[in-house]
Amino acid sequence: MKKFCLFIFCLLSILFLKAQQTFQQDQKMNKFIKDLMSKMTLDEKIGQLNLVTPGGAVTGSVVSKDVDAKIRNGQVGGIFGINGPDQIRQAQDIAVKNSRLHIPLFFGLDVIHGHRTIFPIPLGLSCSWDIPMIQQSAHIAATEAAADGLNWVYSPMVDIARDPRWGRIAEGSGEDPYLGSQIAAAMVRGYQGNDLTANNTVMACVKHYALYGAAEAGRDYNTVDMSRIKMMQYYLPPYKAAVDAGVGSVMSSFNEVDGIPATANHFLLTEVLRNQWGFKGFVVSDYTSVSEMINHGTGDLQTVSAQALKAGLDMDMVAEGFLTTLKKSLQEGKVTQKDIDDACRRVLEAKYKMGLFDDAYRHDDTQCAATSILTDSNRLAARQFAEHSFVLLKNSNNILPLKKSGTIALIGPLADNQRNMLGTWNIRGQYNEDVTVIQGIKNIAGSDVNVLYAKGSNISDDSMLVTNINNFAKQIDVDSRTPQQMIDEAVATANKADVVVACLGEAADMTGEASSMSDIRLQQCQRNLLQALLSTGKPVVVVLFNGRPMILGWENKNVNAMLDVWFPGTEAGNAIADVLFGSYNPSGKLSTTFPQNVGQIPIYYNHKNTGRPLNPGDGHKFKSDYLDVTNEPLYPFGYGLSYTSFTFSDPVLSKTTISGTEGLTATVTVSNTGNYDGEEVVQLYLHDKVASITPPVKELKGFQKIFLKKGETKQVVFNINHSDLMFYGKDLQLVAEPGEFEVMTGPNSRDVRMTTFTLK
Ligand code: BGC
Repeated sequence: MKKFCLFIFCLLSILFLKAQQTFQQDQKMNKFIKDLMSKMTLDEKIGQLNLVTPGGAVTGSVVSKDVDAKIRNGQVGGIFGINGPDQIRQAQDIAVKNSRLHIPLFFGLDVIHGHRTIFPIPLGLSCSWDIPMIQQSAHIAATEAAADGLNWVYSPMVDIARDPRWGRIAEGSGEDPYLGSQIAAAMVRGYQGNDLTANNTVMACVKHYALYGAAEAGRDYNTVDMSRIKMMQYYLPPYKAAVDAGVGSVMSSFNEVDGIPATANHFLLTEVLRNQWGFKGFVVSDYTSVSEMINHGTGDLQTVSAQALKAGLDMDMVAEGFLTTLKKSLQEGKVTQKDIDDACRRVLEAKYKMGLFDDAYRHDDTQCAATSILTDSNRLAARQFAEHSFVLLKNSNNILPLKKSGTIALIGPLADNQRNMLGTWNIRGQYNEDVTVIQGIKNIAGSDVNVLYAKGSNISDDSMLVTNINNFAKQIDVDSRTPQQMIDEAVATANKADVVVACLGEAADMTGEASSMSDIRLQQCQRNLLQALLSTGKPVVVVLFNGRPMILGWENKNVNAMLDVWFPGTEAGNAIADVLFGSYNPSGKLSTTFPQNVGQIPIYYNHKNTGRPLNPGDGHKFKSDYLDVTNEPLYPFGYGLSYTSFTFSDPVLSKTTISGTEGLTATVTVSNTGNYDGEEVVQLYLHDKVASITPPVKELKGFQKIFLKKGETKQVVFNINHSDLMFYGKDLQLVAEPGEFEVMTGPNSRDVRMTTFTLK
């Protein structure tokens, strides 16, 4: 008892000291900013709210003009889209040496999945279900970005997406709020570390707030209309997780939500973000999303800028609506001095917390850039992260791993293709530094393997698609040969081999921003190629490059194996070869459902029941289903195979009845019963059987990635806490209601074993 009291006393003392320290630091900051703001003119305050880009990675039709002059005049708070210590130093020089108040600038960039060393696209990384690894990927990206002079990154992108037609599904962590929240928080920790003033950290910016992933019909920038309960329960948790992890900034999204553009949405920006979640940082708009409200139909530039500021937006990216209209709006009483001061203060506070007032050049050091970027250890990390992100979709007769002997026919438009390994958003990544599949296979296979190659087809022969992609970046190389000539060469090559490895899929920019697709099958020319390869009778392994779930029913039925490698990044070829030859046993699990066909979209595992669910054995009439396709997806959420096999016991609960805020544990015994060592992601789902708001059929509430040696058995224990039983009730408050809960555990969301407990 004495010891316990001492422990509590020490704990309270530490908490007290910490609170006191924070209070003192805040007071110091507040005084500094108050003094600074007392010297600022109205124009200078508005200038801090202006974010410009002088070019580089632009994603809209407007580019900022007269940037140097504006910095000198105190009309710029930050710049994005430039990088490299020299350029950044020049711009910072103007701000801190030549502007009246010497206020330093932010330097931002879209560092999304690595900076110069490119890791798998975020959707791929999320399939690792490896939270420490994902955190490490953000930490390495921060180290490289900081060494390049940057202090602010536009990541993590945490938009929940249930529609694979939406190209930006590639940039996020899939469909699940629980997994998405874990990843969001890990990335914030990875970028920001414990100290935003350190040399190897950058301020993160969680985006796109909010609900951008729910764009109607999967068409980018499109309308979102959603009930508040649905947003709270399924779409908002990852943004909140980033806020809880201390993210410094938030980016508003392009879309409207229930008739009000997110960029001027008071409910989202103030009521939820600041008032409910206690967010203390600043909110930046997306690229011209302030002026785009004119197209949304909510007013002219002055009106929409005032709406945005009043709703809680602090910084205007590129549109210059704040810069050019806020003064007038103040004179006309449409915004208040306090509105402008609050926004300015939040921007300055962020700069203060990043230590920019002490050393505006902290991140700017050419020496550091030369020694910290694309290092051997970063490349090694990229290789390992990629291996962990791959999902083995099919492997009949254990055709994989490949033997390191015999002849391999490496076929397909992505087999020897440096331009498409990095995926969307790789601003500083350089494709000529990537490892292609053919290089990787040659590096790993050894001298007993004979590797033959034929391209077999273009990525696409659809001239509209090719033009749309190649106008942005030349990623689809259209061969001068006819499709038939290419197929003939591929078939002749396949006929000489023991096994065919077909590298098929999308070009990098067939996903990402403004890359929605209505047909998400493999392109026709690749399906023709695959059919021809299959007709040789040789075993065919598909290595699939994609930034979204694709429609793969035919491929799944006909090929022998399929490895989904997403867009793996700089070390693509080496990572793919490691997995194909079994140096690494695949462990990735899907973070999004793969539909059977486009008509099933949106399809996601945590759906509700209907009043007329289709149960096994039911006739079809008057049931909630389709006449021409079953309700099941092709591959469910959480799915992914391994070269070994695992068996799962039923979950065993520590209690079958709990009351109040009590928790319980669920224990699962997992055995590696196959022939390889391997990792398995053990997943826990809950189903609240009766609730005041209709519950989903299951929800992920826990997972653990474990390593089991061949023949080994381990017990996995999950804590189920009171908070795991909660949901958003009618009044939008979290509640847990008494009743029966199903506990399901297994290797994916479909193949689960179940038991129940009761909350009294
Ligand atoms: C994108 C953002 C990005 C911004 C700046 C926009 O078009 O939606 O994700 O951060 O551009 O590049």
